[in-house]
Amino acid sequence: MEKEREKRPNRWSKRVAITGASGALGSALREGLQRRGATVIGISRRPAPHHLDQPHWLVWNGQVDGALEALLLEVDILVINHGMNLLGRRDGAAIEEVLQANLMSAQALIALFLRQSRQLSEERRIGRELWVNTSEAEVGPAFSPIYEVSKRSLGTLLTLQSLDAPCTIRRLILGPFRSSLNPYGPMSAGFVAEQILNLVGWDLRLIIVSFNPLTYLLAPMANLMNGLYGRLCTRPKDGH
Ligand SMILES: NC(=O)c1ccc[n+]([C@@H]2O[C@H](COP(=O)([O-])OP(=O)(O)OC[C@H]3O[C@@H](n4cnc5c(N)ncnc54)[C@H](OP(=O)(O)O)[C@@H]3O)[C@@H](O)[C@H]2O)c1
Repeated sequence: MEKEREKRPNRWSKRVAITGASGALGSALREGLQRRGATVIGISRRPAPHHLDQPHWLVWNGQVDGALEALLLEVDILVINHGMNLLGRRDGAAIEEVLQANLMSAQALIALFLRQSRQLSEERRIGRELWVNTSEAEVGPAFSPIYEVSKRSLGTLLTLQSLDAPCTIRRLILGPFRSSLNPYGPMSAGFVAEQILNLVGWDLRLIIVSFNPLTYLLAPMANLMNGLYGRLCTRPKDGH
């Protein structure tokens, strides 16, 4: 029995890069992934924690650059997790900042990861995964209109991109949890991270962690309808 278990490959023996790595969920996911045997590389605007060295941490400014491109070429899984929420604001600077962080920079990473995956050999491409943390705000109120627009747009575009994706895409739809982005969230980031990793273990593509039962109904419906709409009204570019 023990020998059988030893022979089975560990599904988590992968190189995983995660953005927003020093945030609440980013840190919890890093710990959970490491505990399961993954090699985790944090992508963050902050310097590496003192116990981590350069191969396990990349400092970025929210924009794609050469170092990030080189790193993403080498990883099996990219988790796009960074995000911001300027609660209570509606000025132009807030709109620009939130759309840039939650939508534009996430989109640049998605486009890069998909482009790289298409260019890799089939052997390397199999096993590549993109996880995108959109939020329950895709299908419900987050009491923050600009944040909702940014996350809904990210989700809508992700549905279109999933139609011709060369690798596995998983969407994280999370209910409120405590962090600097949401100090009032009732769940803990550690609990949410464990649920995410358990659901990924079951190979689910739509990962929902929420205490709101409506989310379990609305998110799959929205995903299905947006996918159908995308298939009807758009077509893949030649060669994709
Ligand atoms: N908390 C909730 O209730 C909730 C619910 C659903 C979904 N989410 C989503 O979960 C993700 C993680 O959020 P969290 O709750 O863990 O919040 P958090 O602790 O504030 O972590 C978010 C991290 O994103 C990075 N970040 C912030 N602004 C950025 C910018 N302008 N450019 C690039 N990176 C930036 C920062 O990480 P670095 O300093 O390491 O760069 C920050 O620590 C976000 O995408 C959020 O939208 C949160």
